Amino acid sequence: MLSPLLLLLLALSLGVAASSSPGLVLLLADDLGYGDTGCFGHPSSRTPNLDRLAAEGRRFSDFYSAASVCSPSRAALLTGRYPTRSGVYPGVFSPGSRGGLPLNETTIAELLKQQGYVTAMLGKWHLGYGANGSFLPIHQGFDHFLGVPYSHDQGPCQNLTCFPPDTRCYGTCDQGVVLLPLLKENKIIQQPVNLPNLTPLYDHFARDFILRATKQHKPFFLYYASHHTHYPQFASADFTRKSKRGPVGDALMEFDGSVGVIMQALRDAGVENNTLVFFTSDNGPELMRRSRGGNAGLLKCGKGTTYEGGMREPAIAHWPGQIAPGVTHELASTLDILPTIASLLGVKLPQVKLDGYDIRDVLFNNGKSKRETMFYYPVFPSRELGVFAVRYGQYKAHYFTQGSTHSDSTPDHDCHWDALLASHDPPLLFDLEADPSENYPLNSFDVPNYSQIIDAINKEKLKFESEMEFGESQIDRGSDPALEPCIDPGCSPRPGCCRQAY
Ligand SMILES: *[C@@H]1O[C@H](CO)[C@@H](O)[C@H](O)[C@H]1NC(C)=O
Ligand SMILES: *[C@@H]1O[C@H](CO)[C@@H](O)[C@H](O)[C@H]1NC(C)=O
Ligand SMILES: *[C@@H]1O[C@H](CO)[C@@H](O)[C@H](O)[C@H]1NC(C)=O
Ligand SMILES: *[C@@H]1O[C@H](CO)[C@@H](O)[C@H](O)[C@H]1NC(C)=O
Repeated sequence: MLSPLLLLLLALSLGVAASSSPGLVLLLADDLGYGDTGCFGHPSSRTPNLDRLAAEGRRFSDFYSAASVCSPSRAALLTGRYPTRSGVYPGVFSPGSRGGLPLNETTIAELLKQQGYVTAMLGKWHLGYGANGSFLPIHQGFDHFLGVPYSHDQGPCQNLTCFPPDTRCYGTCDQGVVLLPLLKENKIIQQPVNLPNLTPLYDHFARDFILRATKQHKPFFLYYASHHTHYPQFASADFTRKSKRGPVGDALMEFDGSVGVIMQALRDAGVENNTLVFFTSDNGPELMRRSRGGNAGLLKCGKGTTYEGGMREPAIAHWPGQIAPGVTHELASTLDILPTIASLLGVKLPQVKLDGYDIRDVLFNNGKSKRETMFYYPVFPSRELGVFAVRYGQYKAHYFTQGSTHSDSTPDHDCHWDALLASHDPPLLFDLEADPSENYPLNSFDVPNYSQIIDAINKEKLKFESEMEFGESQIDRGSDPALEPCIDPGCSPRPGCCRQAY
């Protein structure tokens, strides 16, 4: 009979010990606002699975993305760096973009792959496609990719299938580019993608990935970047017309359903208690879609702006037995995820300037956050103007304000496209704890040490900006129609011929 010690040594040598590294699941919603989920107060959304995560885990009241639109926000999430550093600005990547998230940036997936993790990404990438797909997730640390390279409105979506099949997707989307493709690793497997079948496909992949990794005793990282609730909203048959909130509610319900599938897979694999699940959204809601867009709750404006509604996001961390249920009001950001994971696993940080903090104390001890500031860049950042706003503790100062088309159509005119760039000297000051909706700018009558607060924020801003090195813009490299993903590369005339033959 083998002695226990020998068995242990055998187990170690077989790499079984590696499986005690926690599983990591990062759930990212798209254009989902602070007020959209049940657990953040929406009265008619149906999000039972997210609500359960919130009840069992830690819900964040003051969690920020690092940008108010997709590409830069995702770059920041995966690298722990402001997107101005990595060059993911201004705006977002388009189907034929020459640039992408530079390959020398270190992503969470690359960090984990070095530690023996198996890594997979599902859903929307939006960090570049490039020549022959050279910027796809498989070149940034992901073993597997099943998803689309950019937003599903960046193609003629009136031709995409929606459910029921006789209905058209709402809206028209971008014209004159290829139909949206679905990729597996770096191969186009559908063009156009079949939207009503897409989420079930992702769910199946996610479940299989978790069960397979667990069976092989491999630690895993799953980055699930859903298309929901980005415009144009869609859902599979199981969710169409099922919510009380119309198409955006159906889309959100389908996202919530995926959360349920993933949590069930973790339980079935017996690893729920050894897995950190983190949920958030990339940026605020696209209010221009009126009741078909998301909702920022009590926050001002939404997508495309540096008001709270543009960048403060719902967030939940879940890990039974490790993270005690509750709500934290500590300041945290998507920028903090990479450093926190690195610290959790005892991995050396990438040797570059990082903008995130290790927030393990907030997660595991209900402690204080090391983060005291958050800096808000506009969609078109420049060295000349610098940051538009700074959060410092409970205060926020706006040096510049500007509306956005993305946030048109709300009753608040400050959010609209024609609320032009305005500079504020002294900056507009708000107390986000007393006034989270940014309704009432403060002056020296409201706060006795008003000028000390302004001075302190000015100092933080100066320090931050003196240490900010703008990377070469990847988006200003422009686009080339020849680089757009095409299932039949030699075909003509493009872009119309880039579609599956039936
Ligand atoms: C990546 O390479 C570019 C171009 O050589 C360089 O400017 C940039 O600093 C590098 N970034 C990192 C994170 O190493
Ligand atoms: C893409 O790959 C093909 C086949 O390997 C090659 O012929 C072509 O030049 C590549 N295109 C670009 C833009 O790199
Ligand atoms: C997981 O952790 C929770 C909370 O500590 C505990 O109640 C539950 O029994 C654990 N489940 C398993 C399968 O160990
Ligand atoms: C302003 O006054 C409050 C209350 O006395 C104090 O807590 C805070 O630290 C002061 N802020 C600055 C920047 O001096």
